[in-house]
Amino acid sequence: MAPIPRGSTVAVTGSAGFIGGWVVRGLLDKGYRVRACVRDVNDVAKTDFLRAMPGYASGRLTLHSADLDQAGCFDEVFAGCQGVCHVSHVSDYDDDDYMRGVCAHVINSINQSNSVNRVVVTSSIAAILSEADLQELVRRPVIYEDRYPDEASPKRTPERGQGYSIGKVTLERMFTEAAEASGRWDCIRVCPADNVGPILSAHQKDKGPWQHNIEMMLLGEYFQTPAYRPWMTVDVRDDAECHIRLLENVSVQNGDRYIAWSTDTRNVEDICASIDRLLPELGYATPEVTDPFPERIQAREQELRDIWAQCELRNDRIRGVTGMTFRSLDESIRDCVESLLQVAKIKPVVRDGFGERI
Ligand SMILES: NC(=O)c1ccc[n+]([C@@H]2O[C@H](COP(=O)([O-])OP(=O)(O)OC[C@H]3O[C@@H](n4cnc5c(N)ncnc54)[C@H](OP(=O)(O)O)[C@@H]3O)[C@@H](O)[C@H]2O)c1
Repeated sequence: MAPIPRGSTVAVTGSAGFIGGWVVRGLLDKGYRVRACVRDVNDVAKTDFLRAMPGYASGRLTLHSADLDQAGCFDEVFAGCQGVCHVSHVSDYDDDDYMRGVCAHVINSINQSNSVNRVVVTSSIAAILSEADLQELVRRPVIYEDRYPDEASPKRTPERGQGYSIGKVTLERMFTEAAEASGRWDCIRVCPADNVGPILSAHQKDKGPWQHNIEMMLLGEYFQTPAYRPWMTVDVRDDAECHIRLLENVSVQNGDRYIAWSTDTRNVEDICASIDRLLPELGYATPEVTDPFPERIQAREQELRDIWAQCELRNDRIRGVTGMTFRSLDESIRDCVESLLQVAKIKPVVRDGFGERI
């Protein structure tokens, strides 16, 4: 199927979010027309940053209320669009019927549009690997696009925290199959890793969760990552750029799947320690990590860290197809911290002698 024409119209679901906001910004910068779908255009705390973007004043960027829980909410928005970036979260990943219902109505709006020829859906690294059974990472340590979590595992249930991973695999399959059945559009799947980088609006500090974790570090208390997993990161700006390059790409085909990550990994304590190293002017008082896990998990800390350490993260496919180069994690952390201070007015814990800047 054809890539979207340069300068054509793209709808972005989840535009008020961390990744969606950067997708909107990147599309505008490249000259596209953008229909930014948000839950409620009147929620100014979440949408004014979009109105401040170049393109809004001229009408090249328009905002549209669309509550994903209402079937048909995208019918009018998608009509006339050549591309869709379906970035939005849903309200409940644990409810399979609900998840399938939302996918079905978004697909229906795409089919009805008679104009969309490429859809990029935002899945997750959680649809590639899961933390339900770490032994499975020992058996299959190469983390690349053809990998899925062990779907036969009895631990793979919403009750055991796997709803998000299951829901994202469902999303990917439903969109790929619907595109195949339609023959008029194709679905390209992006599986982002842990997004770090600058927020565009204060409300985004509470989301993520990775930028929220950095906010907590700045405020003086942060927590160990579940199963002692190191952060496996991508800069949010690079993630958005991957989405856009895949909309434009002439080589990709329906169902292609790409992990968006730099392959940088870092333990949460080292992320926190990076703040003072990268921004010594701040005088940041680096706190200790809080480990909330029960003793039986804490006793396995080294074993679990060793399992993560033997994983091999690959991004050959996205780099090969799109020519992407990824920012360093240091750059992402620095810019995330500065945006939390500047945009969200976070007041970090600082050492004696460091205070308010004039
Ligand atoms: N951030 C990461 O590290 C990461 C990693 C892998 C994959 N992803 C995927 O990337 C996508 C975007 O993540 P993000 O970090 O940008 O999340 P985010 O900042 O929370 O943005 C998600 C957006 O989805 C909207 N949304 C949720 N339910 C909705 C509904 N029922 N109707 C309309 N809008 C709804 C939210 O609106 P409200 O604010 O009004 O709820 C929010 O603006 C998600 O699909 C996520 O699974 C993210």
